[in-house]
Amino acid sequence: MKDASESGCERCVVAIDGPVASGKTVVGEALARRFGWRLFDTGVMYRAATWQAQRQAVHLDEHETVAELIRGSTFQLVPCPDQDSTRLDVYVDGVDATPHLRESAVESGVPTVAAIAEVRALMVEIQQREAAQGCMIVVGRDIGTVVLPDAPVKIFLEASEEVRARRRAAEQNGGVDEESVLVATRRRDARDRNRHASPLVAASDAVTLDTSDLTLQESIDIAEQIVRERIPNLSASGDAVPPARG
Ligand code: DC
Repeated sequence: MKDASESGCERCVVAIDGPVASGKTVVGEALARRFGWRLFDTGVMYRAATWQAQRQAVHLDEHETVAELIRGSTFQLVPCPDQDSTRLDVYVDGVDATPHLRESAVESGVPTVAAIAEVRALMVEIQQREAAQGCMIVVGRDIGTVVLPDAPVKIFLEASEEVRARRRAAEQNGGVDEESVLVATRRRDARDRNRHASPLVAASDAVTLDTSDLTLQESIDIAEQIVRERIPNLSASGDAVPPARG
């Protein structure tokens, strides 16, 4: 990963927020590759916290107990050993949680854990520390509003419910019907947007990019353009080129 000071860029960080299946992670990953940066998908932290609570047999509705468990657990973000990956793996108390993060129990439990204000406060602290480590694309729901309110680039990805449900269904190779994915997407949207702690909302200084009518390639290209407009001294490889002297 490029180091911010070594690249001459003080704040090489891009915040990408948006609802479920808006393309945040795939666009973020493509940008990270283009720039030679890391992708920090903060959703993995809430998933890891959920996994930790479930494996310790803590009931997710017991918010105080969940928060206490998370406060006493250690979360480490480690570059994925796969050379082709820009992602960070997450270790909880020294155990790699990454293989468990998409399990159905985690999938269904994570909105409950992500809505616990105290858990969010602990996660945000870790995320802020991590984002200061180097050049990074940080993806989530509250990055531009809460985690990195001073990020030089904030992108809020949007797409219609129908388009997002269609994408989700396609990802599952037709194994699910689009109508039920649409219902699930609406439910998850409502939980993300209406929760009391850090609801999903675009930061006032974010650029909203609606990808409903865009191909993935077009979305990536436009996102790259947005980054380059806001960090104008970024070279083709993602290094910030120091301004010419004299
Ligand atoms: O993006 P994802 O599906 O991996 O996110 C998992 C859950 O965590 C989802 O309920 C939204 C929540 N989340 C959040 O509240 N804040 C973030 N910064 C990232 C994810």
